[in-house]
Amino acid sequence: MHMNDFTYHVPTKFVFGRGVVDEVGEALAEAGFGCALVVYGKGSAIKTGTLDRVLTSLDRAGVRHAQLGGVRPNPEVGLVRDGVAAARADEADVVLAVGGGSVIDTAKAIAVGAPYEGDVWDLFMKKAPVVAEGKLPVACVLTIPAAGSEASSSCVISNDELSLKKGLSTELHRPVLAFMDPELTFTLPAYQTAAGITDMCAHIMERFFGSTGPCPVTDQIACGLVRSLIECAPRVLEDPCDYDARASIMWAGTQAHNDICGLGRAAKPNGRAGGWESHALEHELSAHDPAIAHGAGLAVVMPAWMRHVWRSAPERWLTFGRLVFDIEPVDVVEDCIDATPEEAEEDAVLATIDEIQAFFCGMGMPRTLGELGVRAEDVDALLETLRQNKGELIGELRPLTLDDCRAIYESCL
Ligand code: NZQ
Ligand code: ZN
Repeated sequence: MHMNDFTYHVPTKFVFGRGVVDEVGEALAEAGFGCALVVYGKGSAIKTGTLDRVLTSLDRAGVRHAQLGGVRPNPEVGLVRDGVAAARADEADVVLAVGGGSVIDTAKAIAVGAPYEGDVWDLFMKKAPVVAEGKLPVACVLTIPAAGSEASSSCVISNDELSLKKGLSTELHRPVLAFMDPELTFTLPAYQTAAGITDMCAHIMERFFGSTGPCPVTDQIACGLVRSLIECAPRVLEDPCDYDARASIMWAGTQAHNDICGLGRAAKPNGRAGGWESHALEHELSAHDPAIAHGAGLAVVMPAWMRHVWRSAPERWLTFGRLVFDIEPVDVVEDCIDATPEEAEEDAVLATIDEIQAFFCGMGMPRTLGELGVRAEDVDALLETLRQNKGELIGELRPLTLDDCRAIYESCL
């Protein structure tokens, strides 16, 4: 049993519930902000009326605002550069994201880029450090529960010119305010809903299936969240306006990635728990083709990664199977089964991985890379950018060589 040291501080204030989107202006004014750079995506925030409600609320509270729309899923650094210029030109004192992970990450990148004299991409290449001085605070109105960026320390941005998608994690990224109105998610298409839930599960599982052994409180929180997601997913897919299920999913997405699911499991007090192998493998897919939704890529690579590495820590999968799916290895002696206890455990682990994949696919997520348009001839390019991004050894449970990564990609073509 483990309980490693940790320091945990999430400074985000959450305002959660029906209609909170109309309180944005008042809350920003109360927090002392005078000018917001409002960042949004390709159009859903306009179509649903959410952007209008935010702007009206800002006007009512006397908070000035400038706008930057057009953030695409798997956001690109070009728009971040525009945002840095806009934040400076308009003397914004807060960046307000209205959207999901892509929009919030763009806002985070603008916020850390604002005080940096050079090109903001340098920060992602670690050529320059992220500094607190002059960094703008980020607030957000979440419209899709998925990435957990509303409270996470991460920020993920693509550079199309370099074919790279890079994560930048720092405690400075965590938003100061997050408005979470589950009604805003009623308009989500089933595919985006499912991709979001898959991403949440991945954030929980990347931490759970790390090299640290059992950590009971954190393990129970993690598995409880996954159970809730499994319960709520079919409800929202059947009735997109099921408020309580939408609300549960929204809050689960935050818990999945605000680091609570890793407390006591990380080796270093400030370190993120887990090896994040599936995220590394996925990010190359959505960098290769930005039309690939992050969650959909994860639905394919995560079970494949599990089948490749579970032997390094079978007890983690047995615990997960027991706590989430009530799967127990058969008792070969008691039930007079002609198998060894190890074989019974292997069956239970593989059944657990099958259940995880069945949950993803049951929501409409893909099972193969082919369904995402990725072909055998693309694998070399994926491995090359993976190497540039992560080096020769990836992860922690069983550090993956590039040959392992090739085998994982090829196993799910
Ligand atoms: O662009 P619009 O028109 O707004 O449409 C979006 C987009 O097409 C749509 N959408 C959002 N809210 C909606 C809606 N459609 C209808 N009704 C609504 N209420 O949903 C689509 C996906 O949006 P996006 O923001 O891309 O989704 P998500 O939140 O999954 O973010 C994905 C990005 O986050 C990164 C991913 O790699 C990817 O780039 N991640 C960020 C993390 C973080 N910062 O902590 C962690 C994650 O592991 C992840 O890597
Ligand atoms: Zn993710």
